[in-house]
Amino acid sequence: TFNKQATITVLGASGDLATKKTFPALFGLYAQGHLPEKVRIFGYARTDLTDEAFRERLSSKFELVGPNTKEKAEEFKKLCHYVQGPYDKAEGFAGLNKAIEKVEKEMVASGEVPNRLFYLALPPVVFGSVCGQLKAECYLGDGKGHTRVIIEKPFGRDLETSRELQKQIAPLFTEAEIYRIDHYLGKEMVKNLLIFRFANLPMTSWWSNQYVKTVQITFKEPFGTEGRGGYFDGIGIIRDVMQNHLCQVLSLVAMERPLSFDPEDIRDEKVRVLKAVRPIEHRNVILGQYGPNEEGKPGYLDDASIKSKDSKTPTYAAIALEIRNERWDGVPFILKAGKALNDSKVEIRIQLRPVARGIFHDITPNEVVLRVQPNETIYMKVNTKYPGLSTQTVATDLDFTYHRRFTNLVIPQAYESLILDCLKGDHSNFVRDDELDEAWKIFTPLLEDIDAGKLPVEVYPYGSRGPESVSKFVQKLGYVIPKNENYIWTN
Ligand code: BG6
Repeated sequence: TFNKQATITVLGASGDLATKKTFPALFGLYAQGHLPEKVRIFGYARTDLTDEAFRERLSSKFELVGPNTKEKAEEFKKLCHYVQGPYDKAEGFAGLNKAIEKVEKEMVASGEVPNRLFYLALPPVVFGSVCGQLKAECYLGDGKGHTRVIIEKPFGRDLETSRELQKQIAPLFTEAEIYRIDHYLGKEMVKNLLIFRFANLPMTSWWSNQYVKTVQITFKEPFGTEGRGGYFDGIGIIRDVMQNHLCQVLSLVAMERPLSFDPEDIRDEKVRVLKAVRPIEHRNVILGQYGPNEEGKPGYLDDASIKSKDSKTPTYAAIALEIRNERWDGVPFILKAGKALNDSKVEIRIQLRPVARGIFHDITPNEVVLRVQPNETIYMKVNTKYPGLSTQTVATDLDFTYHRRFTNLVIPQAYESLILDCLKGDHSNFVRDDELDEAWKIFTPLLEDIDAGKLPVEVYPYGSRGPESVSKFVQKLGYVIPKNENYIWTN
């Protein structure tokens, strides 16, 4: 139904998320011919804007590469309209409803039912009231088309606040109408996890504690919280990227084979593995906050947007999780995430147990690395005979770099991929209510202790590898640092 006709309304249309992510993704889908045949797009926000000013603003971050994109951008802008209104009053939403109904009359042929998608690019404080107003004023009732609602983190700041939010929303929209976005689930490599794991016999056979020694899921960003301190302080790196993005990746790496590709079968397995995660012990946690470096880069506390100058908010965390099930008992899953580090990358690194001792001494353990970004790659570290007359053993890589293997490769933006899934009604890559609950259950006790100042926070210099103690920490957990890390990245 949504592939024929729909209206898409972005609430919070003049904000950062909408301008940087939502509208460029909608335009990307339009330019590639993936939006419904008949579509109109509405922006709703408090700011007073004309349609013209709104169209200029929403297109400011469009990527205009490829043939005819400028013309396409002009066409796309003509499909967009702006409605100004508050987030907590019925008049605003009644006005929005009228505007939508007007275009629906033009768009929908007689006998067809209209469909509506609402994308909440809004701060969570208004989620509840906006959902209430949408249900009261803009919801398509029985016998009419579908209404779908996309919401985005933060879904609360702990288990309790997440449940409160859920309590507000659940009576208004069914779980089938709600799409909780975690944009990591739209990334190409993350979407590949189910295929790579379950469609290859070798992977299925060694993907367990029988062969795997450690799993690391790493997120590194080379910049700090510059300018975003107001949002970040008091939130910290765990709420920002771990409880959601990295925990989602973990569930896909660790889950059992789903019964089918049905979204509920997949999400059932994700929930099941999250339930097996043990409470986090303090000894399995390292926290850090970046300080200034010698080249003059400012520390976290130097940022004008950080109000509390003795803030202990972590900008780095390394946490080892234990999954107590038959497959993973004994294998630490180490999540590491940090801002203002020496690198920009996200990867999953699975190190295998050493081969039997005897004929080899000290050889590099096998590793499979799935690099999520930049430059999607899967490589496996293997040992081989150095070619020639010697019998020397050398570590090398079996390398599957996407852009070398696939010609004319176009990797969609995560938001494009997810909005398209939502238009198709596919929930596989969206977070279910019980999944969110389990993710919060894992991290909430630790977050409470961190907020109460019970854990030390190490300072690391801007642009470094993070807190110094991390290297020893991962080695203590069983990770063997390869002697000749010789994989050459191509960007
Ligand atoms: C967001 C976080 O959810 O994800 C940001 O709030 C972070 O702090 C971003 O920078 C990372 O996303 P990506 O797609 O750039 O890896």
